Amino acid sequence: MKLRGRTAVVTGGTRGLGRDMALALAGAGATVVVAAREVPDDPGGGLIALKADVTAPDSVAALMDTVHERYGGPHIVVANAGVSRPGPVAALSVEHWGEVVDTNLHGVFHTVRAALPYLRGTPGGRIITVSSLLGSRAMPGAAAYCASKAAVEAFTAVAALELAADGVTVNCVAPGYIDSGMGKELIGNETLWPRLSPSLATGRPGTGAEVAQAVLFLASPESSYINGQVLRVDGGVR
Ligand SMILES: NC(=O)c1ccc[n+]([C@@H]2O[C@H](COP(=O)([O-])OP(=O)(O)OC[C@H]3O[C@@H](n4cnc5c(N)ncnc54)[C@H](OP(=O)(O)O)[C@@H]3O)[C@@H](O)[C@H]2O)c1
Repeated sequence: MKLRGRTAVVTGGTRGLGRDMALALAGAGATVVVAAREVPDDPGGGLIALKADVTAPDSVAALMDTVHERYGGPHIVVANAGVSRPGPVAALSVEHWGEVVDTNLHGVFHTVRAALPYLRGTPGGRIITVSSLLGSRAMPGAAAYCASKAAVEAFTAVAALELAADGVTVNCVAPGYIDSGMGKELIGNETLWPRLSPSLATGRPGTGAEVAQAVLFLASPESSYINGQVLRVDGGVR
């Protein structure tokens, strides 16, 4: 129960990888708030659900204020909310490009900025951003997604340098092909998956629980001297 007494916020924690991350943090004793645009009354697993839209700065600021008033902290923030809108550059709509960048990149900025007043005042504050294998690897049809995730990794590196003196570490988890959340669609794609799967050194996609363990480590006291890193959780990809 190494996270007892800590409050964590996981954006996009209502389903997919975010939910696994939230459950792992709760399993280590943290009070965990999951935030998304649509939230169930009872998210189960001892989690607390609050509505927030990461593309709206006021919404995320209100979320962090509420978390602070009700539960203390937040001490740990996982900026996980993300979307994917595939399409070749020539056909990608301005709306889809905007939606991906607004959520995946601007959403991380809004989340971190809103949490900072609280994180800064707490010893051992933790920010964990979520990129993707595609933050460092080009995939045709994923221009908006790849660009947004590469930018998240750059943002993480800068924020880590800026916040170290406040005792806050900022690291990034970059999942590979995961059989959960948005990864399920890719793995179920009969054209794409047979082409991608031979690149997996493990011969299998990862699970949400495996990604969650990396987040748990970066949220834990054991990772105190790890800062500004991107931890790829992809089983090894050729
Ligand atoms: N699954 C994979 O294979 C994989 C691989 C690499 C990286 N990732 C990354 O991992 C993260 C989670 O992905 P996932 O596969 O778990 O996705 P998912 O199952 O589609 O879940 C996305 C979560 O984000 C929330 N969300 C989306 N837009 C939001 C917004 N504007 N404000 C607040 N919450 C929002 C969703 O809830 P609402 O729609 O109700 O708001 C949901 O809770 C993403 O950053 C993704 O890029 C996933």
